[in-house]
Amino acid sequence: MGKLQFYIMADNHYFSKKLWVDGDEIESRSHGDQVVLKESPEVNEAFFKIIEADKDTETVVIVGDLINCGERLCHEEFIERLHLLESRGKRVLVLTATHDYNGCGEDENEFVAVGYDKHSRYKVTCTRRHELNELYRPFGRNKADSEYDMSYSINVDGYRFILLNDDGNGHTDCGLDDKGNEWLENELIKAKENGETVLLFTHHPVIAPYPVYEAVAPTEMYGRHPILKSMLMKYGVKVVFTGHTHVHTIRSISDSENELFDVGTTSVSSAYGKIRKVTLENGYADIRTIDMPEEIEGIPGGSKQIAQSCFGGYYRRLIDTAVKDYDEFLELGKGLVPYDKAKKYRFIIKPLIKWFVKANMSFAGRIGRKYSGLSRAECKKHKDEKLIDLCFVILDRFFQGDAPYSPDTYEYRVMYGAMSRADAIMKTFKISLSKYINGIDSLWELAEPLVHNTRTGCDREIKIKLNNEVTYEKD
Ligand SMILES: [Fe+2]
Ligand SMILES: [Fe+2]
Repeated sequence: MGKLQFYIMADNHYFSKKLWVDGDEIESRSHGDQVVLKESPEVNEAFFKIIEADKDTETVVIVGDLINCGERLCHEEFIERLHLLESRGKRVLVLTATHDYNGCGEDENEFVAVGYDKHSRYKVTCTRRHELNELYRPFGRNKADSEYDMSYSINVDGYRFILLNDDGNGHTDCGLDDKGNEWLENELIKAKENGETVLLFTHHPVIAPYPVYEAVAPTEMYGRHPILKSMLMKYGVKVVFTGHTHVHTIRSISDSENELFDVGTTSVSSAYGKIRKVTLENGYADIRTIDMPEEIEGIPGGSKQIAQSCFGGYYRRLIDTAVKDYDEFLELGKGLVPYDKAKKYRFIIKPLIKWFVKANMSFAGRIGRKYSGLSRAECKKHKDEKLIDLCFVILDRFFQGDAPYSPDTYEYRVMYGAMSRADAIMKTFKISLSKYINGIDSLWELAEPLVHNTRTGCDREIKIKLNNEVTYEKD
C-alpha cells in the first residue's frame, strides 16, 4: 500500500445565515452552547479553503453532525459546498449523525428544526432519517463495496475505510445491531484476506475521552462499544476516528497483544475549532492537528474573536460583568443563567463571584497543603496569580485537549491538594462519590484528567503503527 493522505472533519454543525436574525433569541441559544452557530458558515468555509489549497491531499472524511438540528435548508447549503469541494478535485466521504435529522416519534430523536426571529423561534422544514440516505449517498456510499443501513465499506487507494453510522438518539444505544456486527466482522475478514489495512470511522466515542464521561453519559458512547472494541482488537485494527464529544483527544486501550486508539476530533465550529490531517505511509498513520486559521473571511477578529465570544471567553466576560454591573450580567447571561433566580439571589451571587475573582493562587495552595506538601513560602510566591485564571486555563483546554499542568507544576499540586482535602471531608461525612457516579471514587480522579493529560500524553498528534501481524481464528 502506498502513501495516502486525508483530512478528518467532525461536528461541522453548519447553520444557515438565512435562519436567524440578530436578537435575544439567537443570542440566548448561542450562550448555552459551545458551538459557534452564527459564525459556523465562515468557520466551515475557512477549513474547506485549507483543504482545497492542499493539492497533495484528495480525501476528506466527515464523521457526522454536519448541521445544527436537521434543518433541511442547512443540508441543502452544506451539500452544495460538498459538491463544490468535489468539483475542485476532492473525494468526500460522509457519515451523518444525530443532529442531522429530526425524529418522528418512534426513533425518539427530539431535535426540532427551527429558525430564530428577533424575539421568537419558528419551525422550518425538517429532515427525516430516511431522507439522509439519499441526500448523502453521493458522498461515499455510491462508490462503496458494501453497505449496511447507512454504514459502508470502501476501498480508498488500497486502504479499507469502514464508516459506521451510529446516529442513535441519546436515549438508547446507537451503533450496529447484531446483523450489523456480522456485516462488520465479514468486512474485517475480507480485508484481512485481501491484505488491506483497515481504518474505522464513526461518530460517537468508542473509548471515553474522560473517565467520568461514560459514567454520566453511557448513551453518548458508541452503542455496544465493548463488542466493537473486542472485534477491532481481534482483527488488529489500530485506530478508530470519532467525533461527537467535541473534545480533541487521543486515547487508547490495550491487551497483551494489541493497542487500539480512538482519535477524537473536536467540532469544526467550536471556540477552538480544529481538523486533523492523516498521512498513511510505510505502515504508519501520522496524525496531526490543524487549528482554526487566525484570519477568517467575514469575521473581523478571526479566531481570536471566536474564542472570546464562545464558551470560556463568554463565561469569563459573564463573570467580569457580574462584578462590574450586575444588571448587565443578567442581560448577558440570558439563555444560560436563570434570569429570575439570579435577580432574586443577587445578594448572595454577587459577593460570591467577587470573592472568587479576587482569590489568589497563594490562598488556593494553602487549602490542601497537608496533601500536596507545598510549603508556606512556596505558596506565598504565587500571591499575585489569580485562581480564576487557573480555572479558565483548565476550562479552555477541556474541549481542545492537552490539559495544561504536568505533575511537577505548582498548579497541579494546588489542584491535587484541594481535591484531596475535599475527598477527606467527604470521607469524614461518609459521602461516597461512586454512589452518584459509577466507578468514580474520588474528586481527584474526576479532576486529574482536566489538569494533566492522563491519556496518551498528547491530544494533537501521534504516529500509530498500523501493521503488526495479528493472528486470529475464523469461527
Ligand atoms: Fe456535535
Ligand atoms: Fe453528536
